[in-house]
Amino acid sequence: MVHQYDVVIVGSGGAGLRAAVEIKPPYTCAVLSKVHPLRSHTGAAQGGVSAALANEEEDSWEWHAFDTVKGSDYLGDQDAIEIMCQDAIRAIIELEHMGMPFSRRNDGKIAQRNFGGHTRPENPSDPNSRRIPVKRACYSADRTGHVMLHTLYENAIKNNVRFFSEFFVTDLLLNQGAVVGVVAIDLMTQEIHVFHAKAVLFATGGYGRIYQVTSNAHAGTGDGFAITYRRGIPLEDMEFVQFHPTGLYKLGILVSEAARGEGGILRNRLGERFMERYAPTVKDLAPRDMVSRAMLMEIREGRGIPAPDGSSYIGLDLTHLPEEVINKKLPEITGFARTYLGVDPVKEWIPVQPTCHYAMGGIPTDNDGRVVIDENNTPIPGFYAAGEAACVSVHGANRLGTNSLLDLIVFGRRAGKAIMEFLNSGAEFIPLPKDAAEWTESQIQWLLSSQNGERVAHIRSDLQKAMMEYAGVFRTEESLQKMASILSELRERYSKVAIDDKGKQFNTDLIEALELRNLLDTAEAVVYGALNRTESRGAHYREDYPKRDDDNWLKHTLLYYRENQAPEIKYKPVRITKYQPMERKY
Ligand code: FUM
Repeated sequence: MVHQYDVVIVGSGGAGLRAAVEIKPPYTCAVLSKVHPLRSHTGAAQGGVSAALANEEEDSWEWHAFDTVKGSDYLGDQDAIEIMCQDAIRAIIELEHMGMPFSRRNDGKIAQRNFGGHTRPENPSDPNSRRIPVKRACYSADRTGHVMLHTLYENAIKNNVRFFSEFFVTDLLLNQGAVVGVVAIDLMTQEIHVFHAKAVLFATGGYGRIYQVTSNAHAGTGDGFAITYRRGIPLEDMEFVQFHPTGLYKLGILVSEAARGEGGILRNRLGERFMERYAPTVKDLAPRDMVSRAMLMEIREGRGIPAPDGSSYIGLDLTHLPEEVINKKLPEITGFARTYLGVDPVKEWIPVQPTCHYAMGGIPTDNDGRVVIDENNTPIPGFYAAGEAACVSVHGANRLGTNSLLDLIVFGRRAGKAIMEFLNSGAEFIPLPKDAAEWTESQIQWLLSSQNGERVAHIRSDLQKAMMEYAGVFRTEESLQKMASILSELRERYSKVAIDDKGKQFNTDLIEALELRNLLDTAEAVVYGALNRTESRGAHYREDYPKRDDDNWLKHTLLYYRENQAPEIKYKPVRITKYQPMERKY
């Protein structure tokens, strides 16, 4: 079946929906999502969305921009960061007007809380004074992403967007040097649908599921990255993988940084507030890359809290906070700790460990969501990306907490506006390529006819375990080489994979097999990006190259897919406006 829409948006999280709200009549817009829109992963974001509203204390968007550049370990593109931090204030007011129910102060203003890496000068009249934490995160208890998603969904419905829920996109269609549509499988019927479009936006979220311990939903299988990569469009800075410090021990479920923003403290086996040693000024509110490394160092050096199975974790101590603060401001994570670990945060420390949380890298775009394909930032007509799937790059080597929800609403909107401009400039439908659905059909056929092969779950679980061990928070040449060779073996095993379910309705066996291919392709880009970058910067920590190396590595990586070979790697410069790289101290 072939559908024609002016705009096709893949992904119904915050970025996709915010873009969809911009597409106005006479243009038609379809949003495709492999889950129901309200199950998109934006709904799992907890602690807040940042903007220098200064509702609690003095603040400025320039301070926010400085923190974001420094947090990115100077890899973020500074013009994009300035756009994001300046536009944040308008974007929050806009959400409020759309109906988002923010938590409030007693005076009725939007409440704000502390988050890691967000600071202000201690003496606001002296910009060079020591920087201390600032309350910059606007929030709705610890369900900020959930209420944002609902708000944007309602506004997209009001805008007459057509939703195709439980449609799994498998391929991107190109013709005459432009993107002209996508191919998708209807999960209910297994029918293949071709969507012909003037503009396609990928807002497909992250790839956390390449790791065993992750805060990401099951849907976070890197589909958008892999589809783009296989079609010859590069992926940028894939080596930068964020591990959020506080995932529920073993499960990886997010325990919001808001817990530390409200005064929570990380403690080792000796009860020490160890972050005092690693980041003496901001302590537990240091950026995530630093906190995750510090936690693992404590464990490596024998100061983790022993678990019955011989492994160790770190304690998140909220017991000194008033019970009312825990129950009112952190109800979600309190419920998670009680439900999943049987721990009452009012009385006990929550067992936590770093959990794979966010992709700083992704599909390269300009500041208006146009996908760019080379070192000169040449756009490919008709293709846009936003949100976690995209690399603008505002997060560089390490994202600050709360800047992802901000990224979605600022750059989702800008991508939507850029698409409107493209349509208004007279964009036409470029014909679909011949046999548009051929690749998807061949994959389905191959999987449905498979017999006696290995199960998807075994290969996936081996990938996830190996990625934790060899390409996680700490990396070396040796560990990454090992991971690269494991990936080749996993690909070989994948070529002989078999599925049991040969049926048509909600064949999750088939879809998980297709997702596994996406996990493998995405993991390849992460591993080769990490192997190639012989320095440590932000979340990419090479134990064999422990220092940042601006002389050789102040540049973005572009990885190009090559069938049965390591990817080709090119570079493009970081855009610097006024923040010269400095040592990162907190
Ligand atoms: O910790 C959190 O609530 C997560 C926020 C984020 O990733 O921005």
